[in-house]
Amino acid sequence: MAPYQQSILSAEDIIKNYPTSAGELRVLRGLNLRVEEGEIVALVGASGVGKSTLLHIFGALDRPTSGKVYHRGTDIFSLPDKSLAPFRNRAVGFIFQFHHLLGEFSALENVMMPALIAGTNNGKARKHAGELLERVGLKERLDHRPGELSGGEQQKVALARALVNTPQIVLADEPSGNLDKEGGEMLYSLFLELNREMGQTFIIATHNLELAGQAKRVLRLEQGVLN
Ligand SMILES: Nc1ncnc2c1ncn2[C@@H]1O[C@H](COP(=O)(O)OP(=O)(O)OP(=O)(O)O)[C@@H](O)[C@H]1O
Ligand SMILES: [Mg+2]
Repeated sequence: MAPYQQSILSAEDIIKNYPTSAGELRVLRGLNLRVEEGEIVALVGASGVGKSTLLHIFGALDRPTSGKVYHRGTDIFSLPDKSLAPFRNRAVGFIFQFHHLLGEFSALENVMMPALIAGTNNGKARKHAGELLERVGLKERLDHRPGELSGGEQQKVALARALVNTPQIVLADEPSGNLDKEGGEMLYSLFLELNREMGQTFIIATHNLELAGQAKRVLRLEQGVLN
């Protein structure tokens, strides 16, 4: 295994509790993980076990109750907010379980958005967003708004959006949830292609065991820890 600082992402003793009306819900209970650059990791486990919670913490969208997350040796939650924002925008690409597309904007504009926020000029952002949408099979749908697309098509737009800044790490939360069998297979072959072409690292939470089986490493989340 690579020296600790070289791991692209690692988690040390992550605890996450949610306060609820029935008391503290202990979701992650001292979880450890080390992911090396270029790995494809599938994260499986029963509904409600904490897969989304863990991905949100890895993407710095939520903080653990305690424990540390390191990105190439940097403790991300010790960073000031102004450094955390670029981490979220550039180092990681997040494909949400519920895709959160902006309804007022076209598919192309939704995909361009993170690139524009990262400072890419309009022409370049438009070109790259168009290419990605073509790659996921939505070439004919660039100007459609999310409400004019099917659930699976929206999921593909969200996928293109997550990839537009060529993030080193792609965190995908049930990315094939709204897709048919063919769509799910397309998605995984795209992940494999990108992994080969650019060495991107993928962490994919999924209930689809057939697709999870294609990952090089499968982790099972159970009782707050990974097995
Ligand atoms: N903001 C919150 N406040 C309180 N409890 C929460 C909150 N978010 C999630 N939970 C609870 O934490 C647990 C883990 O939720 P999480 O969404 O991470 O599960 P999951 O493994 O992604 O499930 P699924 O496979 O259904 O997507 C669940 O019991 C959920 O009810
Ligand atoms: Mg989930």
